[in-house]
Amino acid sequence: MLKIDKINKYFGGLKAVNNASMEVKKGSITGLIGPNGAGKTTLFNIIAGNTDSNSGQVLLEGVNVSGLKAHELFNKGVLRTFQIAHEFSTLTVLENLMMVPGNQIGEKLLYTWINHSKVKKQEEQIRSKAIEVIDFLNLTHLTQELAGNLSGGQKKLLELGRTMMVDAKLVLLDEVGAGVNRTLLKEISEAIIRLNKEKNYTFFCN
Ligand SMILES: Nc1ncnc2c1ncn2[C@@H]1O[C@H](COP(=O)(O)OP(=O)(O)O)[C@@H](O)[C@H]1O
Ligand SMILES: [Mg+2]
Repeated sequence: MLKIDKINKYFGGLKAVNNASMEVKKGSITGLIGPNGAGKTTLFNIIAGNTDSNSGQVLLEGVNVSGLKAHELFNKGVLRTFQIAHEFSTLTVLENLMMVPGNQIGEKLLYTWINHSKVKKQEEQIRSKAIEVIDFLNLTHLTQELAGNLSGGQKKLLELGRTMMVDAKLVLLDEVGAGVNRTLLKEISEAIIRLNKEKNYTFFCN
């Protein structure tokens, strides 16, 4: 699914990623381990298009995707979660999930005026998808809660939920377990295993 070939990344004089090469097999749940500061997050940022590398290549299913932007990789099914959750704190859990799919026709204001019923229909589809995701993650009781009020672990579950709103292929989980209590950690791991088995997501986690 993913091949990292001799990636290097400098921050000024600091070498954050030193000639990293590795492969992630399609359909696997692959872990990347290393101490704090080893460069794991930086490598994930490079794979997901959030940062450019200084040299080396990222290949997705054999295709060189180095230098693509995050939204381009998103459209190719590469999704990531963040070490520190990136929720919209003043929106509800439901609204956070409904924000995810790109190219919503209702976003074009003129189109909304011209074709109100089509926009409504699309919004309804996205809403029912979001509700399905919320149920899958056992967050039903929090559907209308503001995301800012969730616990750290619930925010991580919401991040995982964001990857389920579109057709993900490769999901990068950056310290998904950090600061999460045991009960929620178990739920997160079960959700990861189910997504791997039922939806064939490949996971690369650190
Ligand atoms: N944006 C940045 N600017 C400067 N240095 C950074 C930046 N991001 C990470 N670093 C440094 O790069 C190294 C690797 O960090 P990071 O990728 O966060 O490691 P890990 O995720 O394995 O803990 C660390 O020394 C960190 O301080
Ligand atoms: Mg990190």
